[in-house]
Amino acid sequence: MKFFIDTANLDQIREANDMGILDGVTTNPSLMAKEGIKGHDAVMKHYVDICEIVDGDISAEVVSTDFEGIIEEGKKLAALHKNIIVKVPMIKEGVKAIKWFTDNGIKTNCTLVFSAGQAILAAKAGAKYVSPFIGRIDDSGWDGVQLIEQIAHIYNVQGFKTEVLAASIRSANHIIRCAEVGADVCTCPLEPILALLKHPLTDNGLAKFLEDAKKFQ
Ligand code: E4P
Repeated sequence: MKFFIDTANLDQIREANDMGILDGVTTNPSLMAKEGIKGHDAVMKHYVDICEIVDGDISAEVVSTDFEGIIEEGKKLAALHKNIIVKVPMIKEGVKAIKWFTDNGIKTNCTLVFSAGQAILAAKAGAKYVSPFIGRIDDSGWDGVQLIEQIAHIYNVQGFKTEVLAASIRSANHIIRCAEVGADVCTCPLEPILALLKHPLTDNGLAKFLEDAKKFQ
């Protein structure tokens, strides 16, 4: 399973990248706004800054919702760097745009996916990634990981090449469960990634080893 970090914060991206386990980055308009980035040029520069930190797929999301607008924006984003993946919402115009991008050699991530039916459409259009939002599904009283399992199963049975990118991850347990059910990628904020490191027996064991090491140093 590939690990992407789900943030536009350059310090957090650097921290995860320095661990050597990062395969890419996902952003969205809310994450960009959180960093206080304003204006077209600043947004474009920020995507390039991310691409210069991480050598992997970097998702940059369009904000247009009509076919022509999505294509125009997506072409500009894709021209920024070879690693940019154009993130397109799961709407009718978005599906049509994903098909156009696929036919024209531009890779896409279909976002805001909440059902298996939507995931089938994204795969049919040729998206490189499909992003089911598991945290938001859990927040609504459903089981997000179950949707990842269902989509992974359908793609496997049908031979779809689209990769299942589990998004809206809230915890280390989400990451582990997504790995269990066959997600190809999980995109997570820094906190759940760091939480994977934690176990009290590791901390206690290390404290004891370091204490005993003093006896022979
Ligand atoms: C990433 O691709 C998604 O935009 C992101 O994971 C959504 O996460 P949220 O539900 O925590 O906003």
